[in-house]
Amino acid sequence: MQFSDRPRRLRQNKVVRDMVSEIRLSPDKMIQPYFVSEKGQERFEVSSMPGIFREPADKFLEQFKADFDLGINKIMLFGVVAHKDEKASMADHVDNPTLRAVEALKGKYGDDVFVATDICLCEYTDSGHCGLLVDGEIDNDATLERLAEMALAAARAGADCLGPSDMMDGRIGHIRGRLEECGFKDTIIMAYTAKYASAYYGPFRDAAESAPKFGDRRGYQMDYRNAREALRELKFDIEEGADIVMVKPALAYLDIISYFKDISPVPVAAYNVSGEYAMAKLMAREGMANEMDLVLENLTAIARAGADVILTYHLRDILKNGWL
Ligand code: PBG
Ligand code: ZN
Repeated sequence: MQFSDRPRRLRQNKVVRDMVSEIRLSPDKMIQPYFVSEKGQERFEVSSMPGIFREPADKFLEQFKADFDLGINKIMLFGVVAHKDEKASMADHVDNPTLRAVEALKGKYGDDVFVATDICLCEYTDSGHCGLLVDGEIDNDATLERLAEMALAAARAGADCLGPSDMMDGRIGHIRGRLEECGFKDTIIMAYTAKYASAYYGPFRDAAESAPKFGDRRGYQMDYRNAREALRELKFDIEEGADIVMVKPALAYLDIISYFKDISPVPVAAYNVSGEYAMAKLMAREGMANEMDLVLENLTAIARAGADVILTYHLRDILKNGWL
């Protein structure tokens, strides 16, 4: 038989396949998330996220050294605290574990480690909601002020990057304005721009003890039936001063990542979230898939859709096992 074209010619061996591959995953583009708990706490493995721990702030440096030696140099920190109240007091308190960890990390590693911190109230409110409640309702504009205070505290502690994950309207502009006023001109904002109300956040809420005590997050996180609405969020976040825009979750939202990639003037990040991580771990544990194959396929899909940066809990395993 004669064909005018045979695509299999470029699949005939690994050397040829590697040469023509469009995507090359790299740890240079990946951020490892961490949960930092208060000092004096025990290191604790999150049961729904095998291999992921709550790290007590006072032992964080010790723990991080092993990861740094593996090659992890970009991290995102989430705080876990016991005291929660209606004002989210711990969000910018001197004893906030992420602030303590940022100071310690930047003191030791300086610019050799890029430290981002989550900016949201749900880890610190007694309601478990991302915003402040006034008369039982999330008060958008009151929340902005608290977020700006939290952002400022993180910038003062030395964070390189802030990740507002609350989905209040106007938050990027409000935080950017406060940073500028206070002289923090170089603090990067990685906005959770298209953050959808998702069932894939379950394991994270175990890890951070941040599940809402009543109701859900659909009044502020996006409705997964909507794609065009993400473009509206993109426009606002860029106008308001975001340096990087994020899509979250990643795997069920590859269309949104691809949309952003086509039109965003700033880099696009994607968050390979806790539920996506847990699914891969469960399949591997049950012998339903090879973990390396599954993880690399998932992360490649996210990169192929257009993510410049990927936040993933798998990074440590990738480096430890030499998967890339
Ligand atoms: C909190 C926050 C969440 C995640 C990141 N920041 C949970 C939520 O919105 O309920 C989820 C991350 C993950 O699932 O890995 N604003
Ligand atoms: Zn939140």
